[in-house]
Amino acid sequence: MTAELSRNERIKEASDYLRGTLAEGLREEITGAIIEDDAQLVKFHGMYLQDDRDLRGERTRKKMEKAFAFMIRVRISGGVLTPKQWLALDRVAADYGNGTVRITTRQSIQLHGIIKSNLKTTLQAIDDVLMSSIAACGDVNRNVMCNPNPYQSRAHAAALELTRMISDHLEPRTPAYREIWLDGERIVGGEEEVVEPIYGKTYLPRKFKVVVAVPPSNDVDIFAHDLGFIAILDDNGNVLGWNITVGGGMGMTHGEPDTYPRTADVLGFCVTRDVLAFAEAVVTVQRDWGDRANRKHARLKYTIDDRGLDAFRDEVEHRAGVKLKPARPFAFTSTGDRYGWTDGEDGRSHLTLYVENGRVKNVPDGVQLASGLRRIAETHDGDFRLTPNQNVIIANIAKHNRASVAQLAAEHGFAAPASGLRRNALACVALPTCGLALAESERYLPDLLAELERRLAVHGLTDEDIVIRMTGCPNGCARPYLAEVGLVGKGPGRYNLYLGAAFDGTRMSKLYAEDLDHAAIVAALDPVLAAYAAERQKGERLGDFVIRAGFVAATTSGRDFHANAGAQRVA
Ligand code: HEM
Ligand code: SF4
Repeated sequence: MTAELSRNERIKEASDYLRGTLAEGLREEITGAIIEDDAQLVKFHGMYLQDDRDLRGERTRKKMEKAFAFMIRVRISGGVLTPKQWLALDRVAADYGNGTVRITTRQSIQLHGIIKSNLKTTLQAIDDVLMSSIAACGDVNRNVMCNPNPYQSRAHAAALELTRMISDHLEPRTPAYREIWLDGERIVGGEEEVVEPIYGKTYLPRKFKVVVAVPPSNDVDIFAHDLGFIAILDDNGNVLGWNITVGGGMGMTHGEPDTYPRTADVLGFCVTRDVLAFAEAVVTVQRDWGDRANRKHARLKYTIDDRGLDAFRDEVEHRAGVKLKPARPFAFTSTGDRYGWTDGEDGRSHLTLYVENGRVKNVPDGVQLASGLRRIAETHDGDFRLTPNQNVIIANIAKHNRASVAQLAAEHGFAAPASGLRRNALACVALPTCGLALAESERYLPDLLAELERRLAVHGLTDEDIVIRMTGCPNGCARPYLAEVGLVGKGPGRYNLYLGAAFDGTRMSKLYAEDLDHAAIVAALDPVLAAYAAERQKGERLGDFVIRAGFVAATTSGRDFHANAGAQRVA
C-alpha cells in the first residue's frame, strides 16, 4: 500500500514549476498575505510569509489582519560577498525591511519585515548586485556552506570553488523566479527533463543542505547536514579529494520519539572530478527514496536509517557510475570562530568580528555595528565572509587599508565577546518573526549569558571555551543538539536543557532536564559548572566531562537520542 502523498506534494505538482498563483497574489491589495498554497511555494523563492507575533493580540482585539510581512533569505555560497553586495543588502534592510540585516547560522543573510508591496523592488535590488534568494528555503538544495577561512591556502580556495560548483549544479532551473520577481518574460512549457533535470516536477521530499569543511575546523557543523564534503589534504596542503558525509539533520518534534536529530555518517572518499556526480546521485536517490507522505519523516536522515547505509551507498554509486573509495582519516578540533586580526603572508589581513546572534544593528549608546560595517564596506576592496557562527570576517584587507579598518572598528566600539561561553554562543531568530517559535531565543540568550557569566566567574571558568546554543523550538535552526549546552524552547519562558555534545561537533547531546524557566536553567547548570571546574582533567571539554561524570549518557545514534539510560548523577 502506498501512503497518501502529503499536501505539499500536491501543491508542488500543481504549481507549474513553482509558479502557483504568486504573480496574481502579489497584485492582490486587500491583504498583506498570500494564499496558503502560495505561502508554501514562496519558500522555494527564498521567502517566508510571517507576522509580527508581538502584535498579534492587539490586532486581533482590534479585528485587524495580522501584521503580515515577509522574511527574505539570500543565497550566498560559502558566505562570501563583495563590499558592494554588503552595502546593497544593508540598504534594502533600511529601505524596506526592519532596519537590520541578520547573519544566519548557515552563512546567509535574512531580511525581515518586508511587506508584500515591497517584495519585487527588494528582489530587484538584490538582483542588481548579482544575488538572488532562489532556493534559500523550500524542498530543494539550500545555501551551500563552506569553511570561510580567507587565509590564502590552496585547500580553502579549492573548498570555496567546490562550494560554488555544487551550488550552481543543484540550483533549480525553473524560470519562475525571474518571471515573477524580475518581470522576466514568461517562458512557456517545456518537458520535465528540460525544466528541472535534477529535481523534476515535485522537487525533493524536504529541504536539503550541503556543506564543505576543511579540517581541523568544523565550523560548518558538517554532521548536522544532509550532505558534506571533508577536504583531505596531502602533506603539502594539496587537496587529494573529499570524504563524503550523508544523513545529518537537526529537526525533531517534542514528544514524538520517531523524530530525532541525527549526525551524518561518513560514506566514503572521492576525488574532486567525481564530486558533482556523487552530489547529484545523493540528491536523486533522496528524491526517489525519500518519504513524500509524512513530512516529519522526509529528510535524508530517515531514508538512510530506514534503508541502511550500505544499500544507500550502493544506489548512489550505481547512479554516479563511480565507486567510492574507503574514507580517509581526518580530525576536527572545534566548531568555533577565531576572533580578531590575522595577517596573511600575502600581505592581506582579516578581521573576524563578533556579531551578537548575527543581528547587525546599532545598539543605542553601545556597539555601532551596522554603521561601522557600512563605513568599512565603502572603502574595503577585499570581501565580507559570513561565518556559520553568525559572525562576519572583513577578509582580504589590503595593506594600505588595515589601519583605517582598525580605526573604524575602534570608533564604532567593536569588541571581542567577554567570555568563552559568549564566544561560542548561537541563537536562532524565534520571536517575534518565526511562526514556529514556542519560546524566545535571540532576544533572551544575551540575558541568560550575562547571568551564566557571573557563575562562570565564580567557578574560574570565564575564559573556557564552552559551546552554548539556544532555539525557540525543537526544529533546531541553531543546531542546539550539537552544543555542549543546548537549550530548546518548550513553551513561553520554558526550555529543555541538553548536555554532552562534543566540542568538535562529532557527537550529539542528550536531554538532561525538562521545562526549565530562567531560574531553573541557572540552578541546573550551576552545579554542573562547579563540578566541571573542580573535577575536570587537563584539556577535558565540558561536553566530554558531563558524560564521564555521569550527568548524561553519550548519544551514539539518532534513534538513541531520546533514550537517557546510563546517566547516574543528578546535580
Ligand atoms: C523542521 C525543521 C525546520 C523548520 C520548519 C525551520 C523553519 C525555519 C523558519 C520559519 C525560520 C525563519 C525564522 C525567522 O527568521 O523569523 C528559520 C530560520 C533558520 N533556520 Fe530553520 N527550520 C528548521 C530546521 C533548521 C535546521 C536543522 C537548520 C540548520 C541546521 C536551520 C537553519 C536555519 C537558519 C540558518 C535560519 C536563519 C536564522 C538563524 O540563523 O537562526 N533550520 N527556520
Ligand atoms: S528553531 Fe524553531 S523557533 Fe528557532 S528559527 Fe527555527 S523554527 Fe523558528
